[in-house]
Amino acid sequence: MDRLLIQGGAVLRGELRASGAKNSALKMFAAALLADESVTISNVPHLRDITTMIELLVSLGVEVVIDEKMNIEIHANTIKSFKAPYELVKTMRASFNVLGPLLAHYGQAEVSLPGGCAIGPRPVDQHLRGLEALGAKIEMVDGYVNATTDGGLKGGHVYFDFSTVGGTEHIMMAACLADGVTVMENCAREPEIVDLADFLNKMGAKVEGAGTDTITITGVPSMHGCSHRVIADRVETGTYLIAAAATGGKIKIRDANPEHLEVVISKLREAGAKITIDGSTIELDMEGRRPKGVSLVTAPYPAFPTDLQAQIIALNSVAEGTSTIKETIFENRFMHVHEMNRMGAKIRLEGNNTTAIVDGVPHLTGAPVMANDLRASVSLVIAGLVAQGDTIVDRIYHIDRGYEQVEEKLQNLGANIRRVASE
Ligand code: EPU
Repeated sequence: MDRLLIQGGAVLRGELRASGAKNSALKMFAAALLADESVTISNVPHLRDITTMIELLVSLGVEVVIDEKMNIEIHANTIKSFKAPYELVKTMRASFNVLGPLLAHYGQAEVSLPGGCAIGPRPVDQHLRGLEALGAKIEMVDGYVNATTDGGLKGGHVYFDFSTVGGTEHIMMAACLADGVTVMENCAREPEIVDLADFLNKMGAKVEGAGTDTITITGVPSMHGCSHRVIADRVETGTYLIAAAATGGKIKIRDANPEHLEVVISKLREAGAKITIDGSTIELDMEGRRPKGVSLVTAPYPAFPTDLQAQIIALNSVAEGTSTIKETIFENRFMHVHEMNRMGAKIRLEGNNTTAIVDGVPHLTGAPVMANDLRASVSLVIAGLVAQGDTIVDRIYHIDRGYEQVEEKLQNLGANIRRVASE
């Protein structure tokens, strides 16, 4: 297993390009199952999770062609199997999202339940209830969801109990081929949902209202091929902005979507960053200053994303003052706090582990650390960058699930970081 070795103290300076959004691309791979013709998806990040999704499609008999620029062509009409096995769904929950498209297009699907996760239990009740509202017949057999339809899905009314990104996307995809109109209320509004809706519409679907809390889908009898470019990954962009701010640096990120990061940018300004936006380029300059701690509450988009919570805690840990970070999306997403405290951070958890109170210290101290989820792992890399001495971040396969060329991008910005194989 690889590890990252970081020698702290470098100030990040330079330019990088934002990668395509993992959480958009993954759902588009599932949505490609709706089409009768081949679809081409570009700006796909080269990540472990993408490889897992491709593996799943290939195991269904779908033909996938990848070129050297990660343009990915998917021919779903070669499909032979309708079963997504436990081995693939347990390693990546987004693969559960093939259930709806398989059911909508082929009238049958057998998909493993994803089970628990390092950041919380993460049930799929809203997905299943939504599919049932469209007429799916669902049975649980040996840890699998076996779903069928009686002559195809039918348009229906779906009201989500709370904001769910995966649930909104899942039902939106399934409803495209349902007979009649589906109205979904209390939908999540994340930019990846809008990107997925654009992709579906290019394939001939009729989806309206994505990005608002009510989405209306008028079912169509079939969907065709198209080409689509995935939006920039706002979480990756936010991660590098936070990393640069934590080190007192100055960076420019090209090909980003600044409009998807309004709250993050405003929090970084509050932390003392000078941020300028020019089209799709974001420039952050700390002018050598130590950041000021910022308090915030994570919540569904457009609020501050849970996927940047760990990274902002890393920044707060070396910032001036005391800050409070409340996590409202996941039940168990503060594992990084214990590792950062081992590096000399002063963070305590309160409110039944829902809130982190961070007393900023002048610097952290390098240590061997590890984390069991993607964003926590990258937050430890940021902690390593601002620590005195060497930090070894173990289990970095988590980082490889979501950050394309992380050490190359950071090295380019001047970080002393390299990948080493574990003994
Ligand atoms: N939930 C339920 N029942 C459901 C669905 C969700 O109880 O049927 C709960 C979840 O357990 C969670 C909350 O509702 O507590 C919100 O979950 P949501 O469905 O919005 O999240 P998701 O679709 O499972 C996606 C991203 C996550 C990101 C969240 C929130 C993908 C592949 N994953 O997950 O990304 O944190 O939305 O924005 O799109 C990551 O990239 O590191 C990551 C975890």
